[in-house]
Order: sequence, then structure tokens, then C-alpha cells
Amino acid sequence: MDRKEFIKTCGFACVGGVALATFLQSCASTNYFAQNSIANNKVTIKKTEFVKIENGKSIPRKYVLYKSEQLNFPICIYKISEDNYSALLMECSHKGCELQSNGDYLVCPCHGSEFSNKGIVQNPPAEENLKSFKVTTDHENIYIQL
Ligand code: FES
Repeated sequence: MDRKEFIKTCGFACVGGVALATFLQSCASTNYFAQNSIANNKVTIKKTEFVKIENGKSIPRKYVLYKSEQLNFPICIYKISEDNYSALLMECSHKGCELQSNGDYLVCPCHGSEFSNKGIVQNPPAEENLKSFKVTTDHENIYIQL
């Protein structure tokens, strides 16, 4: 390998490493499964789960995930406002693929359907809205009725 090839190879390795690190970091920060407790099919999640502390700063989370053994798909819980949350089953209403959260909306990796943070179809081929769960709140917690 001559000098030019070596530098080219190192450049590609460096760019690849940075891209991989960025990708892994974004995965870690977007797929946060909230601490929770469950009793009588009611899941309790503290509102503080919607804030992460990074380098001493509070950074709001738009959503957290919850996974139950009794459901085949996770639930995505969006914070709409301080006392308004939505809890959406991450099963595409088109053909049942698992959705991915993409900030303020959910997207299906199979055929590209998109759903709002309230579970409403934004882009086809899906025609039905997502299954949602009743959410109530108090000053400290949110409660999801399964
Ligand atoms: S299964 Fe989601 S768009 Fe087809």
C-alpha cells in the first residue's frame, strides 16, 4: 500500500467511525425506556422521566417508551403539554410492522406510513389511526390504562 492509498483508507475509516458513533448516540438518546411500575393493568411513569440530565443541564424528552410482556409492541408515550400525554401502540395499522419514533411522529419502516404524536394517520398506505391507551395525570405521575 502506497502513501496515498494509506491516507485514503484512514480517511474512510475515520469518517465511518464518526458516522457510526453519531448513529449509536442518536439511537441511545431516542429509544429511552422509562422507569415504571405497574398494578392492576395501570402503568405509572413519573413525569421526571421526560427530562434527561446531560452535563448538568435538563433536556426535555418529547417521548419515552414502555414495553410490557403482555403486548407484542412497545408503547410510545408522547408529551403533548404538561398535563396532556398520548400513549400509542407502536404497531402499524397497515400490516403490523413495528413503528419507529422520529421526533414528533411515528414512521413505519415497511411501507412508509406516518402517524402524528396523537396516533392519527398523516401519510398512507395506512388508513386507520393507531391503537391508543387512556392516559391520566396528576402533579407527579402519568398513568396509562392497558
Ligand atoms: S406495515 Fe406499516 S406501512 Fe405497511
